[in-house]
Amino acid sequence: MASTSKLSNQARNLPWVEKYRPQSLDDLISHQDILSTIQKFISEDRLPHLLFYGPPGTGKTSTILACARQLYKDKEFNSMVLELNASDDRGIDVVRGPILSFASTRTIFKKGFKLVILDEADAMTQDAQNALRRVIEKFTENTRFCLICNYLSKIIPALQSRCTRFRFGPLSQTQMIPRLEHVIRQENIDITPDGMKAIVTLSTGDMRRSLNILQSTSMAYGKVTEETVYTCTGHPLRSDIANILDWALNKDFTTAYNQILQLKTLKGLALHDILTEVHLLIHRGRTAFAFFCFFRYRLASGTNEKIQLSSMVAAFQAVRDLVVSDAS
Ligand SMILES: Nc1ncnc2c1ncn2[C@@H]1O[C@H](COP(=O)(O)OP(=O)(O)OP(=O)(O)O)[C@@H](O)[C@H]1O
Ligand SMILES: [Mg+2]
Repeated sequence: MASTSKLSNQARNLPWVEKYRPQSLDDLISHQDILSTIQKFISEDRLPHLLFYGPPGTGKTSTILACARQLYKDKEFNSMVLELNASDDRGIDVVRGPILSFASTRTIFKKGFKLVILDEADAMTQDAQNALRRVIEKFTENTRFCLICNYLSKIIPALQSRCTRFRFGPLSQTQMIPRLEHVIRQENIDITPDGMKAIVTLSTGDMRRSLNILQSTSMAYGKVTEETVYTCTGHPLRSDIANILDWALNKDFTTAYNQILQLKTLKGLALHDILTEVHLLIHRGRTAFAFFCFFRYRLASGTNEKIQLSSMVAAFQAVRDLVVSDAS
């Protein structure tokens, strides 16, 4: 009884990304084609070496851990699975040392292969990757490797060709929403529909990011709305952006500059975020106009934020004057 309550206390303290990490392949909410292929490999006992790649928070680590859980019982997990990630040394020594000795030792009592998971493999040095080529080939009978990375181009072609590649693309909104709703029900969160929309928009297909935003906003503000989500992540609200655009186009330079600077300081906004949002807003209307403004801003980037801000306001006003003189 005591141990149950200790466990549930631990679960309560876990960040939600870990608390709601999928435990089995069936729990994963995306990339069904990849999952069914891997299930088939496992059921036919023909698992190849794997290479998972794609942007963060799309389920690469979760997938291989769920596979490992399916392949091995709890008590044999430690002897059959070697998991290395970016926090471990990524040089050639780790290939010659722990990886080689793990891959080369045979298990006496258990049939089947061992699994080496090299998470964040794009952090491995070229030498280490070259050394791994031979190790992968030599111990294929005994060991399977799973390489995971964000950038495929950082994995040498020789390693890529030894593995079956799977790309984990960003999650779609329709995949993320039911999972978020599940967490919302479990955690009893008060959320509005526009709050949900804001989370999904800001996380751009990264499930980890969406869970982190949900957790931090609900902890900081109680209720999750569009406004609290944007404020919690330090992102400018749509109304702020509309105001900025209005000032830049309708006020004189000094007033526009001062008002934007004041809003920026008050809300702790980054100029980069303001510009991205302004860009998105006007992109829907006038592409050329947006590009011009963006270009002017880019010319000034690299200097301090005040100069960049004045460059941005000047760009808007120059375009405004252009449009006005064209019309008259
Ligand atoms: N497909 C998914 N289904 C359900 N939950 C997911 C999925 N993808 C990500 N998550 C959630 O996001 C968290 C992070 O996922 P995971 O560690 O698998 O991402 P990753 O692709 O390995 O990212 P990175 O490239 O940053 O290592 C998980 O703990 C889980 O809560
Ligand atoms: Mg990962």
